[in-house]
Amino acid sequence: MPASVLVPTDGTASVATMTSDTQDHTAKSATYPPPERLVNPEGREKPWVSSMAEYEALYNESIQQPTKFWTRTANELLTWDKPFTHVSLGSLKEGNMAWFPDGQLNVSYNCVDRWAIQDPSRVAFIYEADEPGNATTVTYGQLLAQVCSLANVLRSFGLRKGDTVAIYMPMIPEAAVAMLACARLGLVHTVVFAGFSASSLAERVADARSRVVITADEGLRGSRTIRIKAIVDEALKSCPEVERVLVFRRTGNETVEFTAPRDVWWHEAVAAQRPYCPPVPVSAEDPLFLLYTSGSTGKPKGVVHTSGGYLLGAALTLKYVFDIHDGDIFCCTADIGWITGHSYVVYGPLALGSTSVVFESVPTYPDASRYWKLVEDHKITQFYTAPTAIRALRRHGDDFVNKCDLSSLRVIGSVGEPINPDAWTWYSEVVGGGRCAVVDTYWQTETGSHVITPLPGATLAKPGSATFPFFGVELAILDPTTGAELEGNDVSGVLAIKRPWPSMARTIAGDHKRFLETYLSPYPGYYFAGDGASRDSDGYYWIRGRVDDVINVAGHRLSTAEVESALICHHAVAESAVVGAPDEVSGQSICAFVTLKDGFEANDTLKAELVKEVRTRIGPIATPKTLILVDELPKTRSGKIIRRILRKVVAGEGDQLGDLSTLSDPSIVDVLIREVSTAI
Ligand code: PRX
Repeated sequence: MPASVLVPTDGTASVATMTSDTQDHTAKSATYPPPERLVNPEGREKPWVSSMAEYEALYNESIQQPTKFWTRTANELLTWDKPFTHVSLGSLKEGNMAWFPDGQLNVSYNCVDRWAIQDPSRVAFIYEADEPGNATTVTYGQLLAQVCSLANVLRSFGLRKGDTVAIYMPMIPEAAVAMLACARLGLVHTVVFAGFSASSLAERVADARSRVVITADEGLRGSRTIRIKAIVDEALKSCPEVERVLVFRRTGNETVEFTAPRDVWWHEAVAAQRPYCPPVPVSAEDPLFLLYTSGSTGKPKGVVHTSGGYLLGAALTLKYVFDIHDGDIFCCTADIGWITGHSYVVYGPLALGSTSVVFESVPTYPDASRYWKLVEDHKITQFYTAPTAIRALRRHGDDFVNKCDLSSLRVIGSVGEPINPDAWTWYSEVVGGGRCAVVDTYWQTETGSHVITPLPGATLAKPGSATFPFFGVELAILDPTTGAELEGNDVSGVLAIKRPWPSMARTIAGDHKRFLETYLSPYPGYYFAGDGASRDSDGYYWIRGRVDDVINVAGHRLSTAEVESALICHHAVAESAVVGAPDEVSGQSICAFVTLKDGFEANDTLKAELVKEVRTRIGPIATPKTLILVDELPKTRSGKIIRRILRKVVAGEGDQLGDLSTLSDPSIVDVLIREVSTAI
């Protein structure tokens, strides 16, 4: 029996809706060959993979001779303290995967020391601060000293290998220093996006059992001040086990509360430490970090990534997918609070000894040229952002792009949500000037690194398709109901992966059972990604969106159950149902339906209070764009809310509701359609 996850709580698999446009724009969509400047790179090195034949040869080797492929790549890209003799153990069926299990390495040594020893003046980070014109650099030599001093501070707190440290910081190089200092000692970091509220932070700190939190006084984004330390103080009221809070001074606002001896200033603590700390070798399978992500239920999951396999996945994908060569300047605009920031701001670029841009601001500050000015100023060669940003910037018009010199760019990437062909084409033609390869990379927090992606010098791209599997990733499309693998092309179903790959998550912190139930048991022998997908007649993969109760707002993954639980905390709320509504800029937006308890009156003040409740409990990223107070929700006779109907109504498909016979009161549908049409 396939997964209960496939059948949302209202008992309706959503695969049918996701396949509706499968055949329309797939095989016959426009294709884009690799651009001339990659194919014939005058004066530069050839792309790592420069034809489909080369891609296929490497891909086939990774599948047919995995030991040979992974031994070579793991030894080429990583430095091991103790070489591994065995590539992998375990299976998806058992959920006991391990990669390079007898190998030992240190992630911070791989990311910092190797390059600092070779050339300490090589630039590791270009830090573009919130206020434009304030860029600074951190060399590998400086990074080594900073990471070591901080590691010594953490050691002085009594932290030892395996302990967890929470990091709640703005997008500044010190956030990466904090991650690398943990890695140096074999500590497990858990970075919490600094847009999450105090209660979300508290939940994560407690679940991860962190005794130390690393933070900053305040953050700055688009000239707005974010009172980060105040949020930490609020969160820690319910986390008595936290003994130390290390505070980096970002803005220097003197009014920030400071509670000694718990709170320690970063600059004072590091000044007292020796700027060298020997790296602690760890097993390839020792955890490097936990990262919380939303699932189908309300409670976020602490996804566990390990040291060896994860680092290899981040480095290998970055090298091939963005075609990184010596001297390249790579810029990924994601926050380090998300997996994209982990893999492609910090670990991937540094493991390759590359230069990575840390961008603190927002794309529209001071105006919609910010990203493009960034590219011009730093001669960025590869740029990686989310479709939401691309769509939003496109609305501001081409002039903001055209006035900047983007000639340094070779590869431009997209991640986090499906990119519609229109936005893809604008990105390629206006930002890329027709000279760049566009890589639409599909992956997840759990996959650690790209799993479906074009390779810039090889793949004939189709706008909107993530194209083909990365090395070592064997994909399958399954029938959602029977679980049978759908062979051949022109098929739609749910996306699954047939064999373990090095950077896949190994477990959920403290809950291996949930790991198995979520990813491995739904279709035994497969990793179940939670997305619908199709394979067109040319074998290209098209991601169709989530098939569970996860929604993707501006590339941020949220569970509808989490938002519903926040709403229900308000004393006036009787019931709530949250669905994703299509949104031109953010892909999806949050639409909440709420019924009130007797005695409460529906009015705008109450609506504003409910929105505030969600922002306080989860954070601004979960703000409902639409909140509709209704008398009743659509339910089955047994009282289950039928979210399928709400999804259809908010998508403007109120005339395609299908079978309504399970509804206890079918007349409710017209009321809902009316309510939604006035609200949206
Ligand atoms: O639904 C897919 C979507 O984002 C989900 C993963 O979210 P998260 O773990 O937060 O990681 C985001 C960054 C890797 C996926 O299950 N997604 C991610 N990339 C794409 C995508 N959907 C379509 N196309 C993509 N390129």
